[in-house]
Amino acid sequence: MRIDVLTLFPNMFNSPFAESIVKRGIDDGKISLEYHNIRDFSQNKHNKVDDYPFGGGEGMLMQAEPVDLSIKKVKNEKSKIIYLTPSGSLLNQNIVKSLSEEEHLILLCGHYEGIDQRVLDKHEVMEISIGDYVLTGGEIPAMVLIDSISRMIPGVLPKEDSFKNESHYSGLLEHPQYTRPRVYEKREVPKVLLSGNHKEINKWCLYKSIEKTYTIRPDMLNNKILSKEEKEMLDDIKAKDTL
Ligand SMILES: C[S@@+](CC[C@H](N)C(=O)[O-])C[C@H]1O[C@@H](n2cnc3c(N)ncnc32)[C@H](O)[C@@H]1O
Repeated sequence: MRIDVLTLFPNMFNSPFAESIVKRGIDDGKISLEYHNIRDFSQNKHNKVDDYPFGGGEGMLMQAEPVDLSIKKVKNEKSKIIYLTPSGSLLNQNIVKSLSEEEHLILLCGHYEGIDQRVLDKHEVMEISIGDYVLTGGEIPAMVLIDSISRMIPGVLPKEDSFKNESHYSGLLEHPQYTRPRVYEKREVPKVLLSGNHKEINKWCLYKSIEKTYTIRPDMLNNKILSKEEKEMLDDIKAKDTL
């Protein structure tokens, strides 16, 4: 997959992808990442890219032209353009999965009060938010998107498909996990995990997964179709909750 990031602060991306899994994906040729400074496309002699919003209001707005020219530089017929914005659709694992199947992503990072709407309309830009809060710029949201998408590209994670057991992939939160030592400050690892009985271990993991989802994110269970076994577990968890 090729990803082009359009930003006023390309240096912000230097360190996050210089390590770990995304770096390996880049080194192995699974991901190609390029950064483009929108300021380089300013036609203004002072390299200005922002101006006051029409109709008044606080702050400055990124102008259409430099953004438009930067998009034109990297866009092709397969490109999907995404503007990171707090007023976009809320990012979730389904969106991440579907974006990981694209060939070319262009990530547009806003700054100031955002970007002139006309350039977003012109390029039929998809708008994505990483959460219901406002950050200073779109760079950190773009990094979140790059990281979450990269690990779903085949061959990027060391163990193929390991993301399928993680939180959100199947509509549940992941169960608690433990590693050595068996006892830490008098706290023991649940006995079933040491039993070697994989059927019982899987059952425990599923139960704990449903329990955690019910406790922390009950809204997720409204959208999930439960198997008979999962429904029985949920009923049991709810019954304990009312005791
Ligand atoms: C200060 S914000 C602008 C907020 C905008 N005036 C609004 O109220 O929707 C500046 C830039 O940060 C980015 N940004 C801020 N919060 C974000 C979020 N939750 N998700 C994605 N991008 C965000 C966007 O690129 C945005 O253009």
